[in-house]
Amino acid sequence: MVNDEIANKIIVAIDGYSSCGKSTIAKALASYAGYTYVDTGAMYRAIALYTLRNHLDSNEDIIAALEKIQVGFKRVPVTPLEGEPEGVVQHVTLNGEDVEPFIRTLEVGNAASRISAIKEVRAFLVAQQQKMGEAKGIVMDGRDIGTVVFPKAELKLFLTASPEVRAQRRYDELVSKGGHPDMEAVLADVNDRDYRDTHRAESPLRQADDAVVVDNSFMTREEQMELIIDLFNKTLDKLD
Ligand code: DC
Repeated sequence: MVNDEIANKIIVAIDGYSSCGKSTIAKALASYAGYTYVDTGAMYRAIALYTLRNHLDSNEDIIAALEKIQVGFKRVPVTPLEGEPEGVVQHVTLNGEDVEPFIRTLEVGNAASRISAIKEVRAFLVAQQQKMGEAKGIVMDGRDIGTVVFPKAELKLFLTASPEVRAQRRYDELVSKGGHPDMEAVLADVNDRDYRDTHRAESPLRQADDAVVVDNSFMTREEQMELIIDLFNKTLDKLD
């Protein structure tokens, strides 16, 4: 049975390196399209937080813990800035707890990069992500969305920017959250994470053959949005 509601909605898969602005673009596109945004990195980070809190080190212990872990999303209203519309953001939950305030640190990011190399962890989250896309109308970002989670996604984007530009963005983000990061350490961290994300045996980060590559090192947010909205509308046109 073809459902009309689903027939004119698509799946947008956005992959790319860490700190290249995937989530900003994905959120903005989801809001433009009236689609659901899913940050899969947050799901890996939630599991990483569980392993840190429970001092789980070995792969065996982490795999055994999966049956005690539930990752989900919760819609949280945001207080708008003056003159801006009311909004709702998605926060990731770990066994029902909103863990958004704890998952954006370098420590959790590094742990997420490590646990995301475990086959069973990936299978656990990929199954859940595929379920979330059943009704289409979704913008999902991560590392393996266009290659593994939704290889048939109607629109695939691969975002990239130079390591230096991404390190500067990560640095600014940490400073804006009140941190005192060391620039060299942030750049080393970006390079380490790139290496791990692209060299792991399980679903390494790679560009899908049919993905559109967007190098945003020297693009403004507005320029990127214009390009991506154009690609989105052209993809919808092709459905008719
Ligand atoms: O996008 P992020 O920095 O929040 O992701 C955290 C880590 O999770 C990153 O190092 C790689 C991993 N990840 C993954 O392996 N697959 C995904 N679909 C999303 C994230």
